[in-house]
Amino acid sequence: MRKQIAAANWKMNLTFQQGEKLLDDILIANIQLSNDCQVIFAVPFPYLIMAKSEIEEEKNYAVAAQNCSDQKPGAYTGEVSVEMLSSIGISHCIIGHSERREYYHETNSILAAKVDRCLEMNITPIFCCGESLKIRESGSQDDFVRLQLEESLFHLGPDSLKKIIIAYEPIWAIGTGKTATTAQAQEMHAFIRSVLSNKYGSEVAESISILYGGSVKANNAKELFSCPDVDGGLVGGASLVASEFIQIIRSLK
Ligand code: 13P
Repeated sequence: MRKQIAAANWKMNLTFQQGEKLLDDILIANIQLSNDCQVIFAVPFPYLIMAKSEIEEEKNYAVAAQNCSDQKPGAYTGEVSVEMLSSIGISHCIIGHSERREYYHETNSILAAKVDRCLEMNITPIFCCGESLKIRESGSQDDFVRLQLEESLFHLGPDSLKKIIIAYEPIWAIGTGKTATTAQAQEMHAFIRSVLSNKYGSEVAESISILYGGSVKANNAKELFSCPDVDGGLVGGASLVASEFIQIIRSLK
């Protein structure tokens, strides 16, 4: 079975102390994960080492960065390289979140370079894709998402692609309280898998975890995660509340 994953994306929220307390409050629930399940905390850069040490004893828990540079180490003031992440034992990195695409103008080709950089350092990219409301309303969401996948991932060989986690996050559902229906989520996830299958074959496509993101909450996680092609979630707001995120972890298949 492909991995079922509950991933928290804290974005630019919480102080160090609040972050530490949140992790304590979640970990105290002592949720034991089978090897088919994983919990990932994507925390701000200054909290990575703290979060790593918090989860040190936990099985199938991991820490992710929320971004990385597309460049090799050098004169790039303010940037963080994958070499830096790797040197502190970070195993995952979110790539191409819609907020980075929109506010920091990250293009599909920049994201392709970031994916490559991560894989070079054995860091698993959590690659985000998803359409805006305007695109959804025009009915062209499939073409839009296909192009995101083609331009950022399809240069990879099958062995590299297998190392990627994909997160489908419709922009119209992020932070809006408006969740995709289970039918909309399942339809897009199945479409993404079919795009992967057409290029890489079904064995590769079936092995890849595709997470849903966009207003996942304790009260809708179970239903969303029950969709056959939804392998968990990438959670923003609700991951900042211990009781919510605990419930979301418990909703994994
Ligand atoms: P919300 O869960 O706050 O809608 O955010 C989703 C998201 O962007 C996760 O990366």
